[in-house]
Amino acid sequence: MTVEKEIALRTERINAVLENYLPKEEGYQKRLLEAMNYSVRAGGKRLRPMLMQESFLLFGGTGRVIEPFLAAIEWIHTYSLVHDDLPAMDNDEYRRGKKTTHAVYGEAMGILAGDALLNYAFETASLAFEEAPADPAVGKAFRILACKAGAYGMAGGQAVDVESELDGSLPMTEERLEFIYRLKTCALMEASMEIGAVLAGASAKEQEVMGQIAGKVGMAFQIQDDILDLTSTLEVLGKPIGSDEKNRKATYVALHGMERAKEEVERLSGEAVQLLEGLGKEDGFLKELIRYLIHREK
Ligand code: IPE
Ligand code: IPE
Ligand code: MG
Ligand code: MG
Ligand code: MG
Repeated sequence: MTVEKEIALRTERINAVLENYLPKEEGYQKRLLEAMNYSVRAGGKRLRPMLMQESFLLFGGTGRVIEPFLAAIEWIHTYSLVHDDLPAMDNDEYRRGKKTTHAVYGEAMGILAGDALLNYAFETASLAFEEAPADPAVGKAFRILACKAGAYGMAGGQAVDVESELDGSLPMTEERLEFIYRLKTCALMEASMEIGAVLAGASAKEQEVMGQIAGKVGMAFQIQDDILDLTSTLEVLGKPIGSDEKNRKATYVALHGMERAKEEVERLSGEAVQLLEGLGKEDGFLKELIRYLIHREK
């Protein structure tokens, strides 16, 4: 099977899990629930749940304890996109090939749908306690999810990202840029891979290595995202190109040039694969997925 087919198969399986947990569109707050479901169902690569699932399998995980977490990480990621697209942030009109949530439902509902998705992530993840009441790994996974999404994770990175939009007063340094990427993008990848490993019974050391691998994958992923913002099209990418320039973002490409950016994506991905091989596990699909991401077009 080609890697594209392998990915499509996994995406389909993940979408089926997500559908199980999506809220019913009923009650006085129906419009909010519709906006949440619209944002999730718009599509997306489902990369974070995929990384989580593959990490779980890498350490021999079995059973359904992972499923609430597959959904939870995608809810948090989707909320981060809904808010990232808001007029106050990147002010973008398209996402996942569709109009952004705020463009369809209005700005207030965009804010609330993001808030509600974030909370719903913890509601959903908490179902894992019922799936495996005696397993302390569930509590550990819950804590990872909480930490990587907040001020010390994704939200913290987004805050420094918006603060750093170039107005001349804050010169972008390599260090600052790396901080932004490590938090805004890598943190949710780390959560995904660490949670998958922890729920499968990985040791603390193995969890740490999975976090390192995810850090490199995330960094490569964000640099590639910056590259695609300059080289792709709305049709292929499903979101507007030129968004970074419009918002005067200092990106890796802006700082170091296109050539070095491409090299860095390869280098980081290669390091991630090496670390993965160092774990000495029988790898199903993770390595192939990491390599595939180097040349992804969306
Ligand atoms: C977009 O993430 C935000 C970044 C961290 C660059 P994805 O490229 O994974 O978005 P979807 O989920 O496929 O829409
Ligand atoms: C956002 O980075 C990362 C998030 C945490 C949402 P970008 O602003 O570059 O993401 P896109 O390009 O809009 O998906
Ligand atoms: Mg942004
Ligand atoms: Mg954006
Ligand atoms: Mg981008």
